[in-house]
This record gives sequence, C-alpha cells and structure tokens, in this order.
Amino acid sequence: MEEKKKKIYILATGGTIAGRGQQGKTAVYKAGGLNLEELLSTIPKLHDQVEMDGEQMLSVDSNNVTVKDWIQMANRINELSKTDIDGFVITHGTDTMDETAYFLNLTVKTEKPVIITGAMRPATAASADGPLNLYQAISLAASNEAWGQGVLVCFCDSIYSGRDVQKVNTFKTDAFNEKDLACLGYMRDEYCYFYNKSLAVHTVRSMFDVTQVKELPRVDILYFCVDADPDLLRFSAQRAKGIVICGTGSGDYSEAWMKEIAKLEEKRIPVVRASRIGSGVITENKYFEQSQNCIPAYTLPPQKARILLSLALLYTNQFEEIKKIFQRY
Ligand code: SIN
Repeated sequence: MEEKKKKIYILATGGTIAGRGQQGKTAVYKAGGLNLEELLSTIPKLHDQVEMDGEQMLSVDSNNVTVKDWIQMANRINELSKTDIDGFVITHGTDTMDETAYFLNLTVKTEKPVIITGAMRPATAASADGPLNLYQAISLAASNEAWGQGVLVCFCDSIYSGRDVQKVNTFKTDAFNEKDLACLGYMRDEYCYFYNKSLAVHTVRSMFDVTQVKELPRVDILYFCVDADPDLLRFSAQRAKGIVICGTGSGDYSEAWMKEIAKLEEKRIPVVRASRIGSGVITENKYFEQSQNCIPAYTLPPQKARILLSLALLYTNQFEEIKKIFQRY
C-alpha cells in the first residue's frame, strides 16, 4: 500500500539561507532576499514523499527578530498544529537561531516535529550550504523519529536540541553544536539517525503559554570582565525585572558586583549566574550567592538564561520558584 504523504509547513523568516549577494562570494550579501518559493526551488523535489505548503512570515536578518516575532511564531505553530499538518520547518538566520529554538521549545504546544534550519553561506555563494540544510530539515520534519523530541535544529548533517544548541563558529558551515553534549543525531541525505534525547522539559509538558502574551518582562544581560563597573547593575535595575550575568568561569564575578547584587534582593530582582565560557555546568555556590536572589543557570548560556528568566517572570518573582524552573527547563 502506498504510504500517505506527510504535510510539511514552512515558515520562512529570512537569514543567510535566503541571502543574495555577489555570485560565488560568501561574505558580501544581504540576508533575507529570497522568498519562500525561490528558496524551495534550490532543493531537490521531495514531491513523492512530502506535500509542502508555507508562508513568508518575515524577511529579516535574524538580528532583527523581536520577542513579538517569537510570540507570533509560537502562536502560529500552535494554531496550525491543530490541523492535519504533520511537521514544521522554520528557515531562520543563524545569528539568533539558538535563541528562537529555545523560546519555541518552551512555548510550542505540539509533539509534531518543529525543525529550524538556516545557512552560513548565501544562496548565491559557490557551494551554498542552504539547499542541503533545507532538504534535510524537511526530511526530518517528515520523519516519525522527530516526534515528541521538542524543537530541533537541523544543520550541517547534524540534529540538535533547541535547548542545548549553540552557534560556535562565525563563518564555517559546521557552525553549530551542543558543546559537551555534542548532538542528538545525524542526517545522511534524507535519513535521520537519533542517538541522544534532551531530558529537560519542553513543548507539551512545558508550563509556558504565550497565547495571551503580548510582551515579556525585561531581562538584561550584563557581561562581567576584569574591573567591570558595578554601576551597570544599578543602571539595569532601574528598568529590568531580572538580570542575567555573563560571568567568568562558573558564573563568577567580583566582590563589588556581589555587594550590588545583594542590594537587588530587596527590590525582588532575580539575578541568574551564567557564564561567558560556553560549556560546562553552573551549580549553586555559597560564595557567589550571598543573597537569596542568585540563581545558577546550570547549562544555559546567557542568551538562553534570559529567555527562561523572562518567561518565568510571567508567572512568579519568588526566587525559590525561579530556581526550580531553572532546574527543570
Ligand atoms: C542572520 O542571522 O540573519 C544572518 C547570519 C546568518 O544567517 O548566518
């Protein structure tokens, strides 16, 4: 019996995968120039296995993606997931792909595959990487194996979890990984091979619902370096509801910062200790956590800790509750 074709819906948002520039060159181009139809014309036809539909949601360099765009993406997928669509692909710029992947991993309410992909070279480059990434992302979205795995990133023959994926190279095509956690699996042509699973809570089991949400509480990221001015904390605390510190080593900072952070406890401002290192885990540390408002980021890098803290602040500003959220998500 002939197998039913899978329906895959593509949300195109721009990025280098849709970039157009000088023929053959990799560096000078404008991200987001190609529309969805042009993008699809660059890949081998999957007509016999997959029925494709989609929309041009945005046409931007991903540095211009906003929290409002994230909320719109999550709600659009949530709405479409109630139809007979079998899986989703989002084409996206690579610069903030890891952030979008984590936000959607926490807010999308479906077990259907949601796969994000992009490219490091524009579509007009010699040996552009976008077509294979897109082809594999569509194949992964149509696979049974990707069901229930949370939002995934498919890039350069590898499969990554939306929670743990990070951009790790500024220009090479193999630009993503999960650092110590490596990857969930591999793609070879249109076939996927899973070997790992993310255990953090995501999608249908996540507590975060953005259906009625218009914006997120402001959370700032402050970068600590030698002799960094604690005034940064005072400035940020005037507006932000939460702060993430991109600290040294395992989420560390100076005594001057420690004193300033302790003052924020009274203002009910949670301060998450993340790290500029990019791999390893940050756990509770009595020396750096001299006030109740300090929360370790565990394995989340600062940009992802900011997303989780903003979403958590929609529900609570109790430090102990937020700590539990950081342990689960
Ligand atoms: C972007 O993030 O939109 C530009 C860079 C890229 O896609 O690689």
